[in-house]
Amino acid sequence: WNRFQSMLDAQPYLRSRGLHVCRKDFAGFKNLFHRFLQVKGPSVEWIKIQRPPEDSIQPYDKISARGLPNNVANSLNKLVVVKLNGGLGTSMGCKGPKSLISVRNENTFLDLTVQQIEHLNKTYNTDVPLVLMNSFNTDEDTKKILQKYTHHRVKIHTFNQSRYPRINKESLLPVAKNLSMTGQSADGWYPPGHGDIYASFYNSGLLDQLITQGKEYIFVSNIDNLGATVDLNILHHLVSQPNGKRCEFVMEVTDKTRADVKGGTLIQYEGKLRLLEIAQVPKAHVDEFKSVSKFKIFNTNNLWISLPAIKRLQEQNAMDMEIIVNPKTLDGGLNVIQLETAVGAAIKCFDNALGINVPRSRFLPVKTTSDLLLVMSNLYSLDAGSLTMSPKREFPTTPHVKLGSSFTKVQEYLTRFESIPDMLELDHLTVSGDVTFGKNVSLKGTVIIIANHGDRIDIPAGSMLENKIVSGNLRI
Ligand code: UTP
Repeated sequence: WNRFQSMLDAQPYLRSRGLHVCRKDFAGFKNLFHRFLQVKGPSVEWIKIQRPPEDSIQPYDKISARGLPNNVANSLNKLVVVKLNGGLGTSMGCKGPKSLISVRNENTFLDLTVQQIEHLNKTYNTDVPLVLMNSFNTDEDTKKILQKYTHHRVKIHTFNQSRYPRINKESLLPVAKNLSMTGQSADGWYPPGHGDIYASFYNSGLLDQLITQGKEYIFVSNIDNLGATVDLNILHHLVSQPNGKRCEFVMEVTDKTRADVKGGTLIQYEGKLRLLEIAQVPKAHVDEFKSVSKFKIFNTNNLWISLPAIKRLQEQNAMDMEIIVNPKTLDGGLNVIQLETAVGAAIKCFDNALGINVPRSRFLPVKTTSDLLLVMSNLYSLDAGSLTMSPKREFPTTPHVKLGSSFTKVQEYLTRFESIPDMLELDHLTVSGDVTFGKNVSLKGTVIIIANHGDRIDIPAGSMLENKIVSGNLRI
């Protein structure tokens, strides 16, 4: 603690962040680290896990069947949209915030979000604000860009999440020697996961400010989930419940497929709905957890949460989330851990929590350039910032796309396509090695293109590949 305390006095950090915030970060970290030291064994006992009761996860159709009232605007004026914007675009080879990567017609994730909310505000003559939870990694770049939305009909607020020290895996001592964010010390810090939203939102003062303005619910989602648009049916369901029966927390879940082994699922545990993440599952049960038959749904991280309930739980010190221990290896080879929490893990603390099983279209994450290829293609059309599957696609499922390592970085990926191929009838695409695509290529069925080491394959402009394997240095 002495080491941390002395860091608190380091001038460069204090100048940039302020003593007050710094002390709150320290208090938060102290609490988390303390809990980490006390935790013994797994956070769930496998035999106590139960299937959630029938009515605790409702099908979306049932929620939407009630229809919308005329005064949708009243409900919208109680809503705040929050995007989790602490993450960088590193996994797609980009340096700055992930939200600033262009995903469709030169629009970034952030542009699309602003367009969606602006469209809502114009259509219903409402005042739905956008709140961005930034991290020390994304705050500066994001704020520079926000100026461009000054004349849009969306009020944009930001707050910063905490900055915690990474811990040496062996010694459990902090890696950073001082609070500086440059040089060797830059690696010493991390944003502690999206579960940090509750404390940071509350500490920022913004939560109180929004409650005073009459806001009742936040709709929180990952900024990279292009399917996470404001759903009026869910909102109406929330605000129309009688007092006392009000749902304080809704988690949108969706049916799991064999490709979705990683996502958390909802379980009933000690009489409450609870999020079960793979990190909490004892080794012997991991296969069971991944199976589609026992755990049928997973968390989309689209969450609707009551603002007064967050305030209450924060003030009662009752927000309880399991600690996720995330191991990392730093550039120099040092093994560290970072202690994180997940926003959905707090579901168990709220009253009348509910899961809603939504259509898959509400989960459209862009984690890799393979995902990016799908959302840039003619499989989707863009309308007021929202992507919808083209009616010209005959099957509702998206194709399975696997681009090799030459496509990992967005910059390089873009140079490899003169234009994005027609993918309306594609089922499966695998591309590996040095491959480029000319203009107006059409891909249908299953297409596999493999350029061996030292070879290059250029798919000529205008070609149509249907159920084809192209390999070696073959030119077609
Ligand atoms: P990730 O992209 O890191 O996680 O963050 P994931 O693997 O998809 O999903 P989870 O973590 O298992 O849910 C998801 C969203 O959370 C934000 C990212 O910017 C992204 O929008 N995030 C993550 C934060 O805002 N702060 C954090 O500390 C971590």
